[in-house]
Amino acid sequence: MKALEGIKILDFTHVQSGPTCTQLLGWFGADVIKVERPGVGDATRKQLVDVPGADSLYFTMLNHNKRSIELNSKNEVGKSVLTRLIEECDVLVENFAPGALDRMGFSWKQIQEINPRLILASIKGFGPGKYQDCKVYENVAQCAGGSASTTGFRDGPPLVTGAQIGDSGTGLHLCLGIVTALFQREKTGKGQKVSAAMQDSVLNLTRVKLRDQQRLEKGPLTEYSQFGEGVEFDNSTPRAGNDSGGGQPGRILRCKGWEQDPNAYTYFIIQAAIWEKVCDVIGEPSWKTLDGFAKPKDRLDKLNQVFERIEKWTMTKTKFEVMEICNPHDIPVGPILSMKEISEDEGLFATGTLVKVDHPERGAYISVGNPIKLSESPVEVVRSPLLGEHTLEILSSVLGYSGNELEKIISSGAVGEVK
Ligand code: COA
Repeated sequence: MKALEGIKILDFTHVQSGPTCTQLLGWFGADVIKVERPGVGDATRKQLVDVPGADSLYFTMLNHNKRSIELNSKNEVGKSVLTRLIEECDVLVENFAPGALDRMGFSWKQIQEINPRLILASIKGFGPGKYQDCKVYENVAQCAGGSASTTGFRDGPPLVTGAQIGDSGTGLHLCLGIVTALFQREKTGKGQKVSAAMQDSVLNLTRVKLRDQQRLEKGPLTEYSQFGEGVEFDNSTPRAGNDSGGGQPGRILRCKGWEQDPNAYTYFIIQAAIWEKVCDVIGEPSWKTLDGFAKPKDRLDKLNQVFERIEKWTMTKTKFEVMEICNPHDIPVGPILSMKEISEDEGLFATGTLVKVDHPERGAYISVGNPIKLSESPVEVVRSPLLGEHTLEILSSVLGYSGNELEKIISSGAVGEVK
């Protein structure tokens, strides 16, 4: 038994944000029916192609545990099939450009008339307001949500981050909204509209920087390196380089081998509680009691000196040795892991966070499995569907079409070339 068994998802999503959401629902056991434009499909199938002729990793890694039906939702027969899907499903998830669903003839009002129990879940770039009609991609959301202005170094430009907080981050937010709406429907019997804007999701994940904005209005942010360096603050939350966001001084430091390996670095935090252990480990026991070093407040203007000394020590060790030595002392450190190292991490395979998936067109590849573990809802990662692989199966077994009626749908061209 899986947590969402019996729940049917009409998956009208594409690219990254929406597909990450419906993939999670699939992992939790929902039947995810991905509706794709005949002959074309989700644009990511053919983006960043590494195996000619095969679906790209971009697509396969975001669309596990789904069935694919090709359907032209703008043709009359296609619309009638879509109407049947809306009748049958519990949730419609979409991340089209603003207004696209209405232009197809499926407004929220019409959807409610077709199936009042249906939950309509949408991702858009912005919530209601002056930017509501904009099309939005990942990096635009990172910029509009406050992440870019607070990421990077003080003397450099704003930076986007590799974590897809705009797309996958919003997919996660939407997923929570959907299961919450399903829970409420248990009591009310009614569906509702669930909306997640990418700007809002990024801002939610950048919450601590809005915290700092308001603290800044009361005085300088003493835990930022720039305070210790005597650099004046502007009127908005500055970029903090690799400072730790939680108020404890932290930096990324070089480790043994950094000259050849761009990832031979460790993160190193010096919390007040473990300061004395840090002093012992790096060979500066006198700093435990030395005036100007013993108390966290007094160290603030010496953080560069302190971290330079710690780095002198970390440069004599590999990033993994730093971890092994510091962990028993509860000194918070973390190796900077490359994607190569992560993709070879047996521990991550053992927990199912990394999985090997076989695919008929491209062979085996590594993917990220479900990072959310439920003790009573096992996850089996199933390869992504080929375009229209399940068109016939969905028309017949989910929607009950057969005989002449089925023939008519197929010959109308609404469902592409049936395989
Ligand atoms: N049958 C017929 N038409 C279909 C279809 C189908 N099965 N599936 C999609 N279409 C149509 C849409 O109705 C739309 O037509 P319209 O422009 O006449 O209304 C058209 O295809 C294009 O859809 P659109 O969503 O505008 O795609 P795009 O490639 O132009 O824009 C995004 C892509 C991601 C920028 C845009 O969808 C968007 O802003 N989405 C919301 C935010 C988001 O999720 N962004 C991140 C994506 S990772």
